Amino acid sequence: MVKIASVIGATGYVGSAVIKSLCEHGFSVRAASRNPTSASWLSSLGDEGKVEIFPLTLKNQSNVSSLDQLRGLMRGSEMAFFCAGFEEQSPSTIDFMVNNVKDVIKIAKSENVKTVVLTSSGGSTNPAGLSDSTPKSELLHFSDPDDQIAKGKFSPAAKTLMERAAFDAVGRNHNNEIVDSALASSSPRLCIMVPNLILGPQLDPGSIKGNSLPWMIKILKKERMSEFIPNDSMSIIDIRDLADLHVAAALNEDASGRYFGVNRSFPWREILNCFGEVLEKYTPPLEKEGEDYDGKIATQFDHSRKESLGVELRELKETLKDLVEYFKWKDAL
Ligand SMILES: NC(=O)c1ccc[n+]([C@@H]2O[C@H](COP(=O)([O-])OP(=O)(O)OC[C@H]3O[C@@H](n4cnc5c(N)ncnc54)[C@H](OP(=O)(O)O)[C@@H]3O)[C@@H](O)[C@H]2O)c1
Repeated sequence: MVKIASVIGATGYVGSAVIKSLCEHGFSVRAASRNPTSASWLSSLGDEGKVEIFPLTLKNQSNVSSLDQLRGLMRGSEMAFFCAGFEEQSPSTIDFMVNNVKDVIKIAKSENVKTVVLTSSGGSTNPAGLSDSTPKSELLHFSDPDDQIAKGKFSPAAKTLMERAAFDAVGRNHNNEIVDSALASSSPRLCIMVPNLILGPQLDPGSIKGNSLPWMIKILKKERMSEFIPNDSMSIIDIRDLADLHVAAALNEDASGRYFGVNRSFPWREILNCFGEVLEKYTPPLEKEGEDYDGKIATQFDHSRKESLGVELRELKETLKDLVEYFKWKDAL
């Protein structure tokens, strides 16, 4: 029996890695893009004929054309991944994420797609006043979207509100408890992956895109963080591990709700020193005098839900080494 999965946001950093992982797990993939011609490279992520490309243009509001395209894409799939998104600080980002997630769940339901996995972001996990030493929990910790909007943080607010809308659409509250049993039993199983900084080689053969990889290039060229090591931490995951977590959540029938897509939070001192080990010409900046680097606590996470998915995560050094090799191959350093 052919196993079929649909991926929305297929050409993206996350979506393309999810496709590769799905192909490695024996799936045939229906991959969506606004421009199927320029997305043709996706076919190389699996054996011949395993990745089929579909047109899909999502708008900020639900509309007949997007619904028809979603229906055509998801028909016959047993699982769907919503990895589309962007980080524009505009109110329309909220409309895009919320309305399209609702449509994806609606079509999944009507087409009998059993599982929906969303890519969200750690911007949804920051309640006011939570200290770095309190382990963050997927079940307990949510940002306040009104506060995010008031501060103009529309992109993280979009993720917080997208998650709420998705839970609502499957009859659950945001702690993943069933609040409408009729709706819950007739809805697809919902899993939400919550990553922060994602690193590792980009599969798109074109130019290096997004925010995170160009930022790393600037750091390695000493155009950023050139003077001192910041006395702070960053929550990181390897793109390949994040993709495997998406697929593991979809394959595990007991998986439901949010999962941190985070290896752990690494102090910048550890990250920059590790870059120094994997790139000979990079020397980390100095530690700032008077800063208590040893006393600074990196953001803590409760890793138990993520670990229940059974994906072995790469060491930071392997991620950074492969990232540097990729940058060298792209002539970016
Ligand atoms: N990258 C990170 O470090 C990071 C960290 C945390 C969270 N995230 C979140 O993870 C999600 C995926 O991120 P990413 O880095 O993979 O993004 P990306 O590389 O920029 O890819 C975005 C994807 O969304 C699709 N898309 C955008 N607008 C669309 C529209 N109107 N209709 C249909 N498809 C549309 C694009 O498809 P086409 O252009 O082919 O149509 C593309 O495949 C985003 O929500 C992002 O905020 C990313």
